[in-house]
Amino acid sequence: MQRKEPEAASGWAPWKTGVVYQVYPRSFADTSGDGLGDLEGITRHLDHLAGSPDSLGVDAIWLSPINPSPGLDLGYDISDYASVDPQFGTEGDFDRLVAEAHRRGIKVILDLVVNHTSDAHAWFVASRSSRTGPYADRYLWSDPAGTDRAGGPVPPNNWVSFFGGSAWEWEPVRGQFYEHTFLAQQPDLNWRDPGTRADVKAMMRHWLARGVDGFRMDVFNAFLKDPQRRSNPIRRGRSAWTRQLHVHDKDQPDLPALLAELRAVVDEAPGRMTVGELFDGHASRAARLSAERHLVFDFELLQAGWSAAAIGRALDRREAAYGPDRWPTVVLSNHDQPRHVSRWGAGRDLDEIARASALLLLTMRGTPFLYYGEELGVPGVVIPNDVAIDPPARHSGPGFRWWNRDQARAPMPWTGEPGAGFTTGHPWLPLPPDWRTRNVAAQRADPSSVLAFYRALLALRRARPALHSGGLARVSTSTPGVLAFRRWTINDRALVVLNLGRRDLAAILRLEGPAGWRPALGTHGSNPPGIARNGRISLRALEGVVLVGTDVPPVR
Ligand code: NOJ
Repeated sequence: MQRKEPEAASGWAPWKTGVVYQVYPRSFADTSGDGLGDLEGITRHLDHLAGSPDSLGVDAIWLSPINPSPGLDLGYDISDYASVDPQFGTEGDFDRLVAEAHRRGIKVILDLVVNHTSDAHAWFVASRSSRTGPYADRYLWSDPAGTDRAGGPVPPNNWVSFFGGSAWEWEPVRGQFYEHTFLAQQPDLNWRDPGTRADVKAMMRHWLARGVDGFRMDVFNAFLKDPQRRSNPIRRGRSAWTRQLHVHDKDQPDLPALLAELRAVVDEAPGRMTVGELFDGHASRAARLSAERHLVFDFELLQAGWSAAAIGRALDRREAAYGPDRWPTVVLSNHDQPRHVSRWGAGRDLDEIARASALLLLTMRGTPFLYYGEELGVPGVVIPNDVAIDPPARHSGPGFRWWNRDQARAPMPWTGEPGAGFTTGHPWLPLPPDWRTRNVAAQRADPSSVLAFYRALLALRRARPALHSGGLARVSTSTPGVLAFRRWTINDRALVVLNLGRRDLAAILRLEGPAGWRPALGTHGSNPPGIARNGRISLRALEGVVLVGTDVPPVR
């Protein structure tokens, strides 16, 4: 008999055992013909995600921001937290999306962007106009440090914006600077103002009452800044941002207490969650800030190169940071980074790199976050900076380098019809280069497609406790280019072996314990390689396999 997994009882499932799928609403599906995705488009495609025999089989969706926004950071500059941006649809469309998702067993996570608002938000409009009144301290206002030779105001310290330039913007009406970690049109909230806390908590309760199951908390470790506004120490680095040690403009000592307050709001009903986006930090900090039902992204894997050594090191760092009692996330792509098949796939077959990286993503210890389109192996689109929509890319130049994030945000290809089934109009960004053949309809009909592999792997993951909730230990091999690890629970075992290299090879794994392994799923077709008693396994280039213990119950 399988032992009951404790997370099911604690409301920790499915956030621990399940899989989350990130939808970038602008790019998922357009039903109005304006070239921009909308909520109704997401609802119409929920069957792709879960609830029908053809579905991918995910447990939750995370929607990038859907609130009204001037769009200067494509929704990450919110001007009204309480409603839905009309360009994505109506309030009714949102409620229907939640109901239809829940009907299919899909939980819904919203993006909580509360490090900053848009400068068009009513709070900021009031705050910038006067040093008195209820919103006077809602943002981070500071007097100038003095005047420069031309008589202009000097910012209070050396903090810089992640999007380039000083983090301080002069507001002549108040005669003060305000702070912004991102664009000047994204002023940072003052989290030491009780009004900020009260209003954000009320807003969270509003969305939770509408059925939302949790929040992805944008740059959550930057919410608090040094109250004394001390300058950051300087270090060597390649950009204005990396030339500072960011000890005073994020990761403040009172952050855990603030997170506990916000998490308590989410925990007012069981089974809900948050996932914090760790801004500019490593696995150790992510692990320290994580808690049951409250995950934290770390981007160690996302920043690793495609080699067994680099990914193995990232894996070791994560395992050391999280230890047996904390639970990591696994992320290979999102709306801010080059898609992983393009990042890792240079000179390689896209389908092969997509399958090999999916094997890692869905068998490592942690809650996987998929990024829309990766289940098809969709690559990045090349969009030069001079036609970029992404704001920091538009002012990228010799003094400020920026990777244009439009390249990871192309519309989802659903069919080979004009508009790729994404839109009947003109898509807001170019379609991915190979959309005519790489699309959902084509891959659904092809049992050897990347999509078919994702579905099979997700099904295997769901069926095997070792894969969705087990421990992880690396298995050593002296064969370069090969990564291997074991996963286990009390009564389930799995072994994952992957050749990341460009050549076929035979590896010898140093396996401890009884050698009973049956290949369950491989990247290269229906006959995945087995492992000999002496630990020998033959793998083609970019071939990976999941083996399961033969002394444990078979997959149903
Ligand atoms: C992180 C988000 O993922 C990114 O897209 C955004 O530009 C910044 N936070 C600012 O909100």
